[in-house]
Amino acid sequence: MESHVPAGGPDISIIVPCYNEVANVAPLVAMLEKALEGRRWEVIFVDDNSPDKTTDAVRALARQKAYVRGICRIGRRGLSTAVIEGALSSSAQIVAVMDGDLQHDESRLIALIDAVGSGACDIAVGSRHVEGGSNEGLANAWRHALSDGGIWLAQRFLPVRLSDPMSGFFALRQQTFETIAPRLSGAGFKILLDLLLSSKQPLKVQEIACGFRPRVAGESKLDTLVMIQFAALLLEKFSRGLVPLRFVAFCLVGLAGVGANLGVMHLVRLFWGSFSTAQAIGTIAAMGVNFYLDNNFTYRDRRLHGRRCVWGLLVFMLVCSVGALADVGVAHMMYAQSYRINEASLAGAVLAVVWNYTMSSTIIWRS
Ligand code: GDD
Ligand code: MN
Repeated sequence: MESHVPAGGPDISIIVPCYNEVANVAPLVAMLEKALEGRRWEVIFVDDNSPDKTTDAVRALARQKAYVRGICRIGRRGLSTAVIEGALSSSAQIVAVMDGDLQHDESRLIALIDAVGSGACDIAVGSRHVEGGSNEGLANAWRHALSDGGIWLAQRFLPVRLSDPMSGFFALRQQTFETIAPRLSGAGFKILLDLLLSSKQPLKVQEIACGFRPRVAGESKLDTLVMIQFAALLLEKFSRGLVPLRFVAFCLVGLAGVGANLGVMHLVRLFWGSFSTAQAIGTIAAMGVNFYLDNNFTYRDRRLHGRRCVWGLLVFMLVCSVGALADVGVAHMMYAQSYRINEASLAGAVLAVVWNYTMSSTIIWRS
């Protein structure tokens, strides 16, 4: 069989983040073989140990074809970090990023790669929103509206004009990627946006018209969590790191806790009627919910398991109780000093959140 990787290694690495894409691996490789014929290329699948065993499909192909490689990460999730690790593992001059679900039009790859290779731009972006592009693959009107809203929002922050900053299909020099990599946030889905916002010098962008096909096998991983991460990414970059992503996540989880507190309290009151019992049970439930969400979301990368998890929960409850006391204390004190009631409550709440966050980050979920 003819080898696509002659001595000296490939010129191009196609980085493909994938999660539960087992049925799409072989078809994608076949499509790439056709689209990149005559080039020195390789494909690097970055799978997060998918339950459907995507990595097994990658390995099976890699045994036959030297231009197929795979990275399997354990205990990690995330499209952006998958792309970062794939791109950093490449020794090629140019890296191109594309989805593993066949939604991106591989026939546009050469145009993207050559736009970068010729020096016409620093980064070439497959765009659904320039003349000739299309976006038929978005599942429904709701996804279209979300996508348009996201694009509009992202454009307010971008140093360059770009019609499709949400695209996940682009190419750039490996060296460029490596230079920006230490500043990347890595959160969520929007690695292109992260690259553009994190580069010291504004990147010269060229957009290339592209289609976006409907998904055939598997399902989309875009969910509410991903959208919250997107908003938080913008906030972190916009405030120049002043408002860390983790703090935003912590506050959002806190809000969910308030919801849980109210919900449980009303439920208990329906059956027992006593306000203080209901309030106490509601508070404990809220702490539990907060701990669970913080452990699986805010501090996902430092997640506690088993006995350490139980210990963490107890310390967390203690920390939150102290926070709540401080909240009430400060609010009373300020109110007594003739501040308005809203200001006093707000100051108390802010103090409690900052306290809880600082303690959580340093004692419970240490790095
Ligand atoms: N390794 C890894 N880890 N891969 C992931 C993860 C993850 O946590 N989440 C998603 N992926 C992979 C998917 O398997 C797929 O190959 C690719 O990333 C895109 O994920 P989809 O879930 O198919 O995303 P989409 O179709 O909703 O979004 C696409 O369109 C957006 C524009 O509307 C992506 O291309 C986005 O990058 C793009 O911005
Ligand atoms: Mn998709």
